[in-house]
Amino acid sequence: MSRQQPDPSVPRASRQRFVQEFSQCLFDFVIQLLPTTEELAVKEDVRKLLERLIRTIEPDSRLLSFGSTANGFSLRNSDMDLCCLIDSDERLAASDLVTMLGDLLERETKFHVKPLPHARIPIVKLSLDPSPGLPLGIACDIGFENRLALENTRLLYCYAMIDPTRVRTMVLFLKVWCKRRKINSPYKGTLSSYGYVLLVIYFLVHVKNPPVLPNLQQMPPLRPISPGDTHIGSHNTWFFDDIDLLRQRWASANTDSVGQLLIDFFKYFARDFSYNTGVASIRAGFIKKDSKGWQNDLDPVRYKDARERNRLCIEDPFESDFNVARCVTRDGLYTIRGEFMRASRILSTRPERAIVAIAQLCEEREDV
Ligand code: GTP
Ligand code: MG
Repeated sequence: MSRQQPDPSVPRASRQRFVQEFSQCLFDFVIQLLPTTEELAVKEDVRKLLERLIRTIEPDSRLLSFGSTANGFSLRNSDMDLCCLIDSDERLAASDLVTMLGDLLERETKFHVKPLPHARIPIVKLSLDPSPGLPLGIACDIGFENRLALENTRLLYCYAMIDPTRVRTMVLFLKVWCKRRKINSPYKGTLSSYGYVLLVIYFLVHVKNPPVLPNLQQMPPLRPISPGDTHIGSHNTWFFDDIDLLRQRWASANTDSVGQLLIDFFKYFARDFSYNTGVASIRAGFIKKDSKGWQNDLDPVRYKDARERNRLCIEDPFESDFNVARCVTRDGLYTIRGEFMRASRILSTRPERAIVAIAQLCEEREDV
């Protein structure tokens, strides 16, 4: 494979100009894709309405947002991920709650309701037709007691807030890019949005040198804390979450522009990341697949599942035995890597204008 070295015939100044213009275009591009104030207000109203209804079944419950609506990485019209927490020892089983809530919402609201009581994680799926406040309608999943998802949402939010300009711009751009290039469907063998966000944070914490972000999970607490405060079940969910303090005290020595970081991100995942042997972990950096028993070159008859599940390995920040990219198939990974290479190629050829590069990067890929 030929390496994409900077072309020495192109003067440095012109390269710098491109990167600067590219950064500015990235800001302008993502800003117009952010949710409107009206959309956010409608979503909050929906959350409150659903919470009121759920409390008629479980009075001691709270309905909390997680995923992109709560982690700082929301695009216009993204779905709503809601989690119901019940502060009582005597609660119904999640599958029963899903069935009861499904019936209630069907009777009392205009949502299209689809209860999935027997899914691995029981949820109620809701959707609402378009309206003036929500021209594209709304899609929403309600799950129960998913405390780890609430915590990983908070972790991503803290990372977004340390350096919002660079981190949010990169993540939001990548979310648009992976949707347009059709590599963002776990059920079709590619990667979830959550997986892409983890790849960006991994890159900014562990690949960039000097790092753009600190490793929040490895920073010591300021005062002693008991294991009860740092664990959910057997999972250690500790991370440094005093963002005001971090923003005062932690200054990255890395001054790369967002355009440069994105160019380097694509280059790294196009050619440097070792997909066959490595696991991307935001908690621990680059780790070997075999240290976790996540090899994909095992006997194909005995370990078919492991082979298929561990093509691309991204460790969940808290559930360290859980591969967030487990749905990525061999073909899916081939397509994803092909897209990283395509993006890297576009950026190394440096079109005349940065806006053209963005248009090419995000060109809708034909369905295959
Ligand atoms: P969009 O919906 O595309 O805007 O992105 P999102 O940020 O909401 O991501 P996604 O819908 O993929 O995931 C929503 C949330 O579910 C994440 O922020 C996680 O909290 C949680 N989640 C998703 N996938 C996993 C997973 O594989 N493992 C765990 N533990 N949590 C997950
Ligand atoms: Mg979501």
